[in-house]
Amino acid sequence: MRFPAEPFRIKVVEPLRRVTREERERLIREAGLNIFSVPADSIYVDLLTDSGTSAMSDHQWAGLMMGDESYAGSKNYYHLAETVRGIFGYPHVIPTHQGRMAENLLFTTILKAGDVVPNNIHFDTTRANVEHQGAEARDLVIDEGLDPASLHPFKGNLDPVKLERALRQLGRERVPLVMLTVTNNSGGGQPVAMANVRQVREVCDRHGVPLIFDACRFAENCWFIQQREPGYADKSVREIAREMFALGHGCTMSAKKDGLVNIGGFLALTNAEWVEKITNLLILVEGFPTYGGLAGRDLEGMARGLEEVLNEDYLAFRIGQVAQLAAMLDQAGVPIVKPPGGHAVYLDARRFLPHLPQSQYPGQALVVALYRDFGIRAVEVGSLMFGHRDAASGQMVFPELDLVRLAIPRRVYTTEQIRFVGESVIQLHHEKQRLKGLRLTYEAPVLRHFTARLEELSDAEAAAPAR
Ligand code: F0G
Repeated sequence: MRFPAEPFRIKVVEPLRRVTREERERLIREAGLNIFSVPADSIYVDLLTDSGTSAMSDHQWAGLMMGDESYAGSKNYYHLAETVRGIFGYPHVIPTHQGRMAENLLFTTILKAGDVVPNNIHFDTTRANVEHQGAEARDLVIDEGLDPASLHPFKGNLDPVKLERALRQLGRERVPLVMLTVTNNSGGGQPVAMANVRQVREVCDRHGVPLIFDACRFAENCWFIQQREPGYADKSVREIAREMFALGHGCTMSAKKDGLVNIGGFLALTNAEWVEKITNLLILVEGFPTYGGLAGRDLEGMARGLEEVLNEDYLAFRIGQVAQLAAMLDQAGVPIVKPPGGHAVYLDARRFLPHLPQSQYPGQALVVALYRDFGIRAVEVGSLMFGHRDAASGQMVFPELDLVRLAIPRRVYTTEQIRFVGESVIQLHHEKQRLKGLRLTYEAPVLRHFTARLEELSDAEAAAPAR
């Protein structure tokens, strides 16, 4: 199978340090088998996240020299606002230092305790910011979106029937907005179809509720619409984006993804009343409305990145690179979530390591082995991240899926490096019996995966029948 080759050449390189297996073994042990605590310069291919890890283009770097660092009225703000209006179509543009601040400003302004926010699936920070207001974050993705084996082309779709039911029950007063995350990160980076956006908008209109996008990976979503949805093959990704955003009333954006920058975000909205309140809050916590917590040069990098991300040669390569890794693993019989999404390949750790029960953290065991044996950093999205003790029974509750995310940074790794990742995972799959289960030795009361410490079970413990 052939995939599109790199539509760029390399002008600046960042040397990678050669690190021995022994050194990695020592580092991961000192880190308490927690990949977040390993120094990044000891990693060969870092697939922890696609967020803020993109390589900027020469045009973006040149833009940094054009930074206008005026406290008020920077020309880069006007450039950004004009670019955002051109792509998204919303008149009011509020820069923020990253996506979660856009979420925080929006929810602090329009939510009250007891409200409910429907979404296909909330990303962690979105959920946390909704809950921070005493409101409920409700995930209403279609059932196929939760089935790792379903080949539905738009597994990110929000179920309009579930939405209609929720809005009928709750009423407009308790639902100040409906959100749609494109692509659906927490569901595997799966796209949302234009037909689904239209259906969701119809339901919203019936109940008089505005629709706001979480637009982090909007270009990748629009690319999937062009490739997969009938009637869109001849439309440009830019045209598709305009059509999609015209169906909503605004968006939150982390430009660390499809803005192709290392830091930045924004809110773009139609509702002038919200904008007035949000702007006042912005001045209190982020900065003046024409810089929103960023330097003028960052705004320029973002404006240029938003244009570049719509380049279809880039998108074909970008999503092709993810698809190539997925195809390589799938052909070798490695269990992955199918079809792959736009930004990451997810390994299904329960099927990968069937000899390890969820209480022994199979996903994290895989993450540790990938680093120790090959210098690859992935992240666990499973028992370690979501496992918790039931307050009433004291029993551990584990999530349905134990996944390991291999998120691919944009324009950073060559096809050869991605092939190295594929070959490493396949080798590990052949040798899976040597991977041992893990046990927690420290956990924090919230978001434990960031700081947890673990140790490997001994041979005797590993040989004992799993509980
Ligand atoms: N929404 C989605 C869908 C995201 O994936 C993220 C970040 C955010 C909001 C928050 O944006 O990080 O700029 O504050 N996702 C990153 C990830 C962290 O690794 O998937 P932020």
